[in-house]
Amino acid sequence: MATQGKLEVLILGSGGREHSLLKACLRSPRVAKVRVAPGNGGMALEAECLEIDAANPVAVLDLVRRTGSNFVIVGPEVPLAAGVVDALEAAGIPAYGPLAAGARLEASKAFSKDFMVRHKVPTAASETFRQLEPALAYVRQQPVPIVIKASGLAAGKGVVIATTHAEAEAALRDMMQAKVFGASGDEVVIEEFMQGEEASIMLMVCGEEYLMLPPSQDHKRVGDGDTGLNTGGMGAYAPTTVVTPEVERRLRAEIIVPTLRGLKADGMDYRGTLYVGIMVTATGPRVVEYNVRFGDPECQVLMPSLETDPVQIMEDIALGRFRSASVKLRPGATIIIVLAAGGYPGEIRKGDEITLPATLPAGVDIVHSGTKRRADGQVVTAGGRVLGVVAHGATLREAAQRAYSVVPLVKFEGCHYRRDIGYRQLRRDGVL
Ligand code: AMP
Ligand code: GLY
Repeated sequence: MATQGKLEVLILGSGGREHSLLKACLRSPRVAKVRVAPGNGGMALEAECLEIDAANPVAVLDLVRRTGSNFVIVGPEVPLAAGVVDALEAAGIPAYGPLAAGARLEASKAFSKDFMVRHKVPTAASETFRQLEPALAYVRQQPVPIVIKASGLAAGKGVVIATTHAEAEAALRDMMQAKVFGASGDEVVIEEFMQGEEASIMLMVCGEEYLMLPPSQDHKRVGDGDTGLNTGGMGAYAPTTVVTPEVERRLRAEIIVPTLRGLKADGMDYRGTLYVGIMVTATGPRVVEYNVRFGDPECQVLMPSLETDPVQIMEDIALGRFRSASVKLRPGATIIIVLAAGGYPGEIRKGDEITLPATLPAGVDIVHSGTKRRADGQVVTAGGRVLGVVAHGATLREAAQRAYSVVPLVKFEGCHYRRDIGYRQLRRDGVL
């Protein structure tokens, strides 16, 4: 595959994750031109955005040919599971992201649980069901809390942590009978509740060679102190020392190495991001889930933590020639505070005008998620998570102070955000 010259990149996706990937491309000496499909209001200010169905392999291939793109970075899981990278590879176009076979690690929780059991990767004990009655009978015999998961993709909403048997039964009926997640609930995984603190482990994988990016932590609940409804993620920071050197040693030996060996043994040449969500429990790290793409908002704090050009890493992985030894990370800490639309994570307001600060202090950046550029050029709200303020500092405290000094300068009707992003780490650091 010829990528001797510079890259003409096409990024697929429209969220904050993809905006941070775009910013990485714009900084990269490897990149001559970058386009985005479909993109958002912030990306439209920095690159050409093209309207397509990014989950349709034929449409993506057609767009790549029309634009003369020679490298594709796939942001979200849906195009990966739909086989977009398979189609590009068959056409000889290098792409960053796993093939559809690898994407099943995220697209089917039943498949990923089976994978973990077969390859002895520590995770919650679980059973998979396709029929409601046996699922109900099983759950009645289990202790609570217990976790009920729709097996298929459910945009991060298909997990219920039931604290009573009645709640567990209601969740099973919702998924298997009322089909609230459609066909994603045809199969349901019931699993043991794991006690501990979570961390997001982002691996950039090239077969058995991998780079572990700094461990990060997301904040999924909408309210301060982890209260209220679940969201796509209200903020993140990296690195987190919940992954101590001892936890990291066990994570690599007991989780990462068996996972990558397992993928190879199962005939999958996995190249792309592997996001391992872990629970740091009293008995060691255990896998909560695999995702096959960067986390959002984790990606927004991880791209700036790479000293080495992330695009060069992605290109080397796509071409199967990546070596992790040469990669350099930037010291310090990075944080993102997500600013959400009024009503989020419920019914949201859209179309509100956004005012952004004219200049930003050093070390601070703004990443757009659910925004749109109106015909008159005004950027307006268009999604639940509207944008994020990203800041870097020598310490997390410094990064957080920088970010929170800019947050009030971003204005739109209904804007809300968490005021405590990074609180666990700030406590560990003894500054909260
Ligand atoms: P998932 O979509 O599998 O990541 O689940 C969403 C969230 O539910 C996770 O980020 C955890 O906070 C929580 N969760 C999922 N499975 C478990 C489990 N077995 N024990 C405790 N919490 C869980
Ligand atoms: N931030 C969690 C996710 O991307 O799945």
